[in-house]
Amino acid sequence: MAYSTTLSSSFFLLFLIGLLLSVSISAREPFACDPKDATTKALPFCQVSLPIKERVKDLIGRLTLKEKVGLLVDNAGAVPRLGIKGYEWWSEALHGVSNVGPGTKFGGDFPGATSFPQVITTAASFNATLWEAIGRVVSDEARAMYNGGVAGLTYWSPNVNIFRDPRWGRGQETPGEDPVLAGNYAASYVKGLQGNDGERLKVAASCKHFTAYDLDNWNGVDRFHFNAQVSKQDIEDTFDVPFRMCVKDGKVASVMCSYNQVNGIPTCADPKILKNTIRGQWRLNGYIVSDCDSVGVYYDTQHYTSTPEEAAADAIKAGYFAGLDLDCGPFLGVHTENAVQRGLVSEADVNNALVNTITIQMRLGMFDGEPSAQPYGNLGPKDVCTPAHQELALEAARQGIVLLKNQGPSLPLSHLRHRTIAVIGPNSDVTVTMIGNYAGKPRMDGVACGYTTPLQGIGRYAKTIHQQGCKDVACGDDQSFAAAIDASRQADATVLVVGLDQSIEAEARDRAGLLLPGRQQELVSKVVQASKGPTILVLMSGGPIDVSFAKNDPRIAAILWAGYPGQAGGTAIADVLFGTTNPGGKLPMTWYPQEYIANLPMTNMAMRSSPSKGYPGRTYRFYKGPVVYPFGHGISYTNFVHTVASAPPVVGVPLDGRRRFGNVTVSGKAIRVTHAKCKGLSLGIQVDVKNIGSKDGSHTLLVYSKPPAGYWVPHKQLVAFEKVHVPAGTQQRVGINIHVCKFLSVVDRSGIRRIPMGEHSIHIADIKHSVSLQAATLGVIKS
Ligand SMILES: *[C@@H]1O[C@H](CO)[C@@H](O)[C@H](O)[C@H]1NC(C)=O
Ligand SMILES: *[C@@H]1O[C@H](CO)[C@@H](O)[C@H](O)[C@H]1NC(C)=O
Repeated sequence: MAYSTTLSSSFFLLFLIGLLLSVSISAREPFACDPKDATTKALPFCQVSLPIKERVKDLIGRLTLKEKVGLLVDNAGAVPRLGIKGYEWWSEALHGVSNVGPGTKFGGDFPGATSFPQVITTAASFNATLWEAIGRVVSDEARAMYNGGVAGLTYWSPNVNIFRDPRWGRGQETPGEDPVLAGNYAASYVKGLQGNDGERLKVAASCKHFTAYDLDNWNGVDRFHFNAQVSKQDIEDTFDVPFRMCVKDGKVASVMCSYNQVNGIPTCADPKILKNTIRGQWRLNGYIVSDCDSVGVYYDTQHYTSTPEEAAADAIKAGYFAGLDLDCGPFLGVHTENAVQRGLVSEADVNNALVNTITIQMRLGMFDGEPSAQPYGNLGPKDVCTPAHQELALEAARQGIVLLKNQGPSLPLSHLRHRTIAVIGPNSDVTVTMIGNYAGKPRMDGVACGYTTPLQGIGRYAKTIHQQGCKDVACGDDQSFAAAIDASRQADATVLVVGLDQSIEAEARDRAGLLLPGRQQELVSKVVQASKGPTILVLMSGGPIDVSFAKNDPRIAAILWAGYPGQAGGTAIADVLFGTTNPGGKLPMTWYPQEYIANLPMTNMAMRSSPSKGYPGRTYRFYKGPVVYPFGHGISYTNFVHTVASAPPVVGVPLDGRRRFGNVTVSGKAIRVTHAKCKGLSLGIQVDVKNIGSKDGSHTLLVYSKPPAGYWVPHKQLVAFEKVHVPAGTQQRVGINIHVCKFLSVVDRSGIRRIPMGEHSIHIADIKHSVSLQAATLGVIKS
């Protein structure tokens, strides 16, 4: 407590000093190619008019082996004789510029940055326009901070691992459990961050952590030692999907490999996945970085090689020099020179790695001289935490909140009838809890622009009586229960804000169970018994919570999930409670009952169920058992009805001219995607969405396909989603285009993607449309 007070007051002091100095603070010095430096400004690598490829080649040709090795690590060394400064590659911007990486520091002109909701919340909006808009704002603030000399241009965000197990402490950082949702999120956020200016990058994003990483610390198994046993089938149709979409659709500048092994090989040392998949198949135009210190980890912790030089060589050959290009950590900087001298890796391999990293720095304009003279050079302190940026953080929270239950309906509350609100619970007046992890270093609570807590938000609509009920989310005792009960007796309505925080779920901390921690459930039950008016439960959490007790209790009028709603979370929660905002969020992950995990090791990576082994399978795509709330659940204050306006009953799938249907191309009546003519092949559906209620609302159409039955097939799979705003009493027509090869294909047990011929059932809410895919063979056989 004392520590954090000291810290925040010194932080405030820094802020004041920063304000005083702000007039005299000069912009960042050029990273390289300073126009004032006569010795370098004429060198080819500094010539903006030359193609980047030539500039990179020229620069690498001038570096000694020692200098090159110094550039293989995140804390890259300076090369003073060529006018190049040191550079810290590690910055983070998961949901706002963050100081989790050493490349970014708050203070001075930049006391904080806009802190958007945690990604799991933003994902619940199912609004790709919003995701890209957030990326644009975050990169404006990142560029502004770079120009001010306090941040880098390379951001190791987003985290697009599949939220496979509900206990995962980092599930909150991800866009949820569905591969197509996660892939869309990845591509949209990355586009927003990187800008839309051809080769030139606004900032460089990185999709992480490749791959099959979604366990931090469970039952004595940690991510540094974990060997994920993953089938080819699950890799192809689950774990790889968001990364492929990030690279191919988002054109991301980087991919980060993970700590864990996949099938016995550390991901950062596996040429099959780094070289063949990411670079070969997906054509990454960028660099591959290791998770922070994965190379050291697979040598020191996993004992994957017998000498450190071999570890360095493996990394470089796999990825570093043909796969891995940058080590977050010191390992490659220390051991690569020896590895080259021993002939374990060649200098040419080192050069290949540097081509990938330096090209990105050039695309960022880091070799173009004065930052202020470049695109985005005018961004500065005035562009951080602007009213418009903070408004978007609020908007994101409003769009991400999910209404799970609304009995009666009892929401929205009315400020005329509900004049006094009892606001109760361990998360009822929190600030940093609302921004989740990867926002700022734990004890520094000054990184957001400012906060509105739920209590403050509700206070704008009604008189509040506040009681925490439990002193923290662990809720170890019932000492404050009586006061909470008393508060709810006096109020016209009771809002209980409960749930989790980083002490329960975090990086390096997976959850043990799915119930509300400690005695929170008891608090809720006691308060609801005493409550005079309607009782509303507001949940803050990244992962799902088994709230069956509240779902089934008729005295609990409504339940709302806010995820971690960001700096403006309290305003958004209150706006939804009082009906200023009509909620439209949908759950991006399944809410399982506690029994689901009873005999389910987190270490079992299989997505598909195995009834004979009592294995339930994972996510809505493969698990068929009972749920508390399903993936995609979320209600509104209005009602929408759907009708299919037009959709073809049959879609022909033309085969590649070189193949003959009935021989090579067909196995189990499913055509290999590589044997089909995929270009432009899509299923177009027109759907009418009518708002039959009395409130305007935004609605997400979730479009699922149920492929013809087969052993490798998911029950259903999200193939498209579209968010639409529909004013009360009106109708909107929504066009949906489903790319047949990408989204109507399934993956067989050998990891081969195939398009099953026959009846595919397309589900949109309560409507079903059947479409028959038929191989079109006529006229396509050449010779
Ligand atoms: C294709 O299949 C047919 C029938 O099974 C067979 O007669 C024919 O020889 C096959 N052609 C090739 C090129 O394999
Ligand atoms: C999606 O988000 C954008 C940005 O906030 C917003 O303007 C738009 O209205 C949202 N779309 C819908 C249908 O709600």
